[in-house]
Amino acid sequence: MYKDFFHLRANPFNVNPDPRYLFLTRHTEEALACLTYGIQSRKGFVLLTGEVGTGKTTLINKLLEWLRAQQVPTAFIFNSRMNVPQFLDYMMADFGIPCDTRSKSQILLKLYNWLLERYRAGETAVLIVDEAQNLADEVLEEIRMMTNLETFTEKLLQIVLVGQTELEQKLKQPNLRQLRQRLTLRAKTHPLTLDETKSYIQQRLRIAGSNGQQIFEGDALGAIHRYSSGIPRVVNLICEHCLVSAFVDQQKVVGTGIVDAVARDFDLGDNHAAMPPLPPQTPDKFDLVDALKTISNLAERLKESERDSTKEGKL
Ligand SMILES: Nc1ncnc2c1ncn2[C@@H]1O[C@H](COP(=O)(O)OP(=O)(O)OP(=O)(O)O)[C@@H](O)[C@H]1O
Ligand SMILES: [Mg+2]
Repeated sequence: MYKDFFHLRANPFNVNPDPRYLFLTRHTEEALACLTYGIQSRKGFVLLTGEVGTGKTTLINKLLEWLRAQQVPTAFIFNSRMNVPQFLDYMMADFGIPCDTRSKSQILLKLYNWLLERYRAGETAVLIVDEAQNLADEVLEEIRMMTNLETFTEKLLQIVLVGQTELEQKLKQPNLRQLRQRLTLRAKTHPLTLDETKSYIQQRLRIAGSNGQQIFEGDALGAIHRYSSGIPRVVNLICEHCLVSAFVDQQKVVGTGIVDAVARDFDLGDNHAAMPPLPPQTPDKFDLVDALKTISNLAERLKESERDSTKEGKL
């Protein structure tokens, strides 16, 4: 609704993991390089972890774009609340391997033969599992078994396991140590620094068609960084709501007053940059993670109701 007012073609702060908007920091570049290197050199197993909302799925979507452009067969599992048969069914269907049997050993045999064919043709195949912190231990065990699909010299299937930081904790469990031992490469996403947050916001505005006119005051950008702790999803939510507020007030530039009001609405604390970072796993840290999840759900609901009202408007 504010697009024309700010001379934008698209909504710059969508919470979808749209790879067109990917902002490359040093950490993101390193993570992407680690993933592509792991796959190209057939390392077999790569782990990507990071705090909630720091861009794991966006990065994976970029990786998927690259793999599809190279015509590498991929299976992308994003619903991790599956049991073993559902997991195997979904994987086979996404790889496009015809499979009419329910027997696990038959399914794995079909997969193995299909991977061998790919290998003989000089190709590999990539299985990406997102939200892996929610996977049941039995499914993780199945994934471990799949890392055994190999020739004498090469891994036939490349597996990328993606998850929030809880996944790292999970992999430390004694029953999953065999899986942990197979992890040859680890990549991470991180919150943005102040300078990165500023450039991130400018880049999203530019991609959405901004002509470079100032929309956020310098101080407002600093406030957004403090309230969001540099977590891109929260940056997007704050920016989106700032633009809506500014539009409602018919203000062409967002100042700190608007940012403060939006942060109050979302109950976001002022995480002052001068404060030392919280040690991992303090109760406050978990509160922040919960708050992010709540905000994310709220944003989805807002989007849905916006979509519904647009539909109603069209009828
Ligand atoms: N590097 C980035 N470049 C552009 N946008 C980003 C980046 N990182 C995150 N975002 C944006 O932040 C939002 C959240 O990103 P994403 O869904 O990828 O995070 P996530 O780490 O997968 O979160 P979760 O832990 O909840 O699965 C999305 O709107 C996404 O576009
Ligand atoms: Mg994600």
